[in-house]
Amino acid sequence: MKIFDTTLRDGEQSPGATMNVGEKVRIAQQLEKLNVDIIEGGFPISSEGDFEAVRTIAKTIKHCEVAGLARANSQDIDRAWEAVKDAAHPMIHTFISTSDIHLKYQIRKTREEVIKIATQSVARAKGHTPNVEFSAMDATRSDVDFLIAVFEAAIRAGATTINVPDTVGYTIPSEFGELIRTLRQRIRGIEKVTVSVHCHNDLGLAVANSLAAVQNGARQVECTINGIGERAGNASMEELVMAIHTRKDFFPLGTRVNPKHIFTTSRLVSKITGMAVQPNKAIVGANAFAHESGIHQDGVLKEKLTYEIMTPQTVGIPKSSLVLGKLSGRHAFRDRLKDLGYQLSDQDLELAFKRFKQLADKKREIYDEDIESIVVEEVLRVPHRFKLLYLNVVAGNVTVPTATVQMEVDGKQALEAGFGDGPVDATFKTIKKLTRTKSKLVQFAINAITGGTEAQGEVTVRLEEKGSTVIGQGADTDVIVASAKAYINALNKMEFKKRKLVGM
Ligand code: KIV
Ligand code: ZN
Repeated sequence: MKIFDTTLRDGEQSPGATMNVGEKVRIAQQLEKLNVDIIEGGFPISSEGDFEAVRTIAKTIKHCEVAGLARANSQDIDRAWEAVKDAAHPMIHTFISTSDIHLKYQIRKTREEVIKIATQSVARAKGHTPNVEFSAMDATRSDVDFLIAVFEAAIRAGATTINVPDTVGYTIPSEFGELIRTLRQRIRGIEKVTVSVHCHNDLGLAVANSLAAVQNGARQVECTINGIGERAGNASMEELVMAIHTRKDFFPLGTRVNPKHIFTTSRLVSKITGMAVQPNKAIVGANAFAHESGIHQDGVLKEKLTYEIMTPQTVGIPKSSLVLGKLSGRHAFRDRLKDLGYQLSDQDLELAFKRFKQLADKKREIYDEDIESIVVEEVLRVPHRFKLLYLNVVAGNVTVPTATVQMEVDGKQALEAGFGDGPVDATFKTIKKLTRTKSKLVQFAINAITGGTEAQGEVTVRLEEKGSTVIGQGADTDVIVASAKAYINALNKMEFKKRKLVGM
């Protein structure tokens, strides 16, 4: 069974989850460690940033195939090839819609035209690489005879994988399983290619639908870490992998994924995208292995098998993550980073170590979660246009909250002061003035990264501008500083997003 990870492409289409090049490369490295088969790095024609991200991933990753997405036209396909051509195992993934709804209202093409375009596009991609995936967008709402004709044309043109997306999350397991079985019985040449599925979660059925497809002969599933993705998201990789792993009686083929890296990968994706994992999320949620009821606790204490179908250790949930303190040196810090999967250059290590020392001055015990925040904020995050240099806030119940903020805006230093209804409001208003931005704050949340009153506060903000959403995160022992960092992170993401040329 092949695992095709699309966290960096479809996952990035989650409202707010824009990632920069460094962030994407870091996730790709973690996916390689997890041992997925294919990493879809992005949609290269969509922006310079995405092109650069896919190109860097292609050059960095050695043990997984690296795919670039392309609509079914030569410009997209050539751009995708430019981005993936240096990969050890490159793949071009091209797609066109096949449902009558999409043909009539969106792409305005006849069925004959779609078959012709699919043939030409796969042939064009095939001219670049033998490894070509073809997707029939909105397959589950397409006429089956037409779907078969399109897939046959794609196979004749050289596609090596045919992908059946449930683009709008409409199908249900028995129906989808039946569709896969029919396609396998009726498509001429199907034995030469890999049958893949790509399910969205609009009805909460993405994982169930993917598993039904596997039981009916699909041999590749497309999925994302934490199930992030367009609208309600994609099939969640950790749920799929652990279902296949835990129920070998139903899924004897297994996957190559090493489940020990699942938890770290989930945390990394959550930190970088700013998308929190719900506590009751299967496999990686904070409560996934917590037994609350007395009866359950009693059972687990006597024998884990009573209420546990897998152990937290299988997915890499650490027992305790207390690691470093004020006296820890550079060596111990580097070793811990290595254990967490981060191999930093000397320059980046110096940056992160400096911040670690500052944090250790304020906080006695430094946990893995603190170290992850440092790496994400100091190393992975490219500050683009806006950078916080200085923040001083006066607040309390006998004063008007006032913020003085110094920032770097497009490389130039600027200073401003402002009032607000509270210290966070004063800070945000002043940052808004300094950056001359128009985004609207639609969500603000604070969480403690670890336990205790000296824990770092982690702030998440969601901004909206002209229908476009971004999420920003910031961490600090001072929650006002954490709020400023989160707000500026979101503003930088918004600027990055504005440079995207085409959406999906
Ligand atoms: O959901 C979808 O149809 C897609 C395709 C591009 C595979 O993401
Ligand atoms: Zn999709």
